[in-house]
Amino acid sequence: MALAVRFYDDYRPAPGNYLREEVLAGFARQPKSTSPALFYDRRGSELFDRICQQPEYYVTRTEEGILASAADEIAERVGPSTDLVELGSGASRKVRLLLEALHPTSYLGVDISEDFLLASTQRLAADYPWLDVSAACADFTNGMRLPPAFETGHPLMFFPGSSIGNFTPAQACRLLRKLHGLMPAGGSLLVGVDLIKDRETLEAAYNDRAQVTAAFNLNLLERIREELASDIDPSRFAHHAFFNDAQSRIEMHLVSREPQDVTIEGRRFHFEAGESLHTENSYKYSLDSFARLAHEAGLEPVACWTDPDRLFSVQLLRPRGALHS
Ligand code: AVJ
Repeated sequence: MALAVRFYDDYRPAPGNYLREEVLAGFARQPKSTSPALFYDRRGSELFDRICQQPEYYVTRTEEGILASAADEIAERVGPSTDLVELGSGASRKVRLLLEALHPTSYLGVDISEDFLLASTQRLAADYPWLDVSAACADFTNGMRLPPAFETGHPLMFFPGSSIGNFTPAQACRLLRKLHGLMPAGGSLLVGVDLIKDRETLEAAYNDRAQVTAAFNLNLLERIREELASDIDPSRFAHHAFFNDAQSRIEMHLVSREPQDVTIEGRRFHFEAGESLHTENSYKYSLDSFARLAHEAGLEPVACWTDPDRLFSVQLLRPRGALHS
């Protein structure tokens, strides 16, 4: 069955073995660290979907709840016949809530993972026959442009899930500035931002009882063993996640259970007992601290929705100086 998904191919990141380069550079660094982008092979993406269903992981269901109750208001704010651009379009149910409330003319999904992108946009095209669906395989953190059809009018860019939390505040600011640069003056950005809360709730979300987050973290090492020439043994590492108060971020680490040497692509790396590989940061904001960040990027928060417990926020940003609708 050929579905009508227009595929933009020309934004694809340069080829090369990203995993190999990132891992070799990251293991050579002191302290050792890798990019959270490396988590998302097929199994990593599946594990992430399962994380989203864990009772401790409040992020996904809270954001969905906010979107479900705010969708009509968001549609009102954004105005009619908007084009919707989803950044990092996963298997998301969230965008459906927006599609149904906004009834945009066209939808563009942007993601670096081509398999996921094609599957999810094809499902959208099948479920919403009135919607003009496109897909762009691209790294939007790194100098992409919107296809011409999305460069005019009032496109809404949707960046859900608190994915922005993976960036340091300085990087997040640069990313917001880039997104601002992609947007026409009439555009807006709807971004999901996780909020600072008590340590217990935060740490439980990254240490679920079913240990799905641990499996997700350790899957990085499985991936290295499978895709690179390596003798790394995941069972010799332990998942460790905690809230770093001073930096306002959850940190995920893989901690070596013992002193060991691992070989990757012919290179040897030593771990002391207790030495860690830092695999992810997930920054948490207050409404104020995020508003300041947006402001620095030339954007202005025009509306913000949260849940009753203030666990999570969905924020609508516009280029500063643009007319409010
Ligand atoms: C996809 C970056 C938003 O930080 O909560 C979930 C990733 N890592 N559990 C997050 C993640 C461990 C997630 N983000």
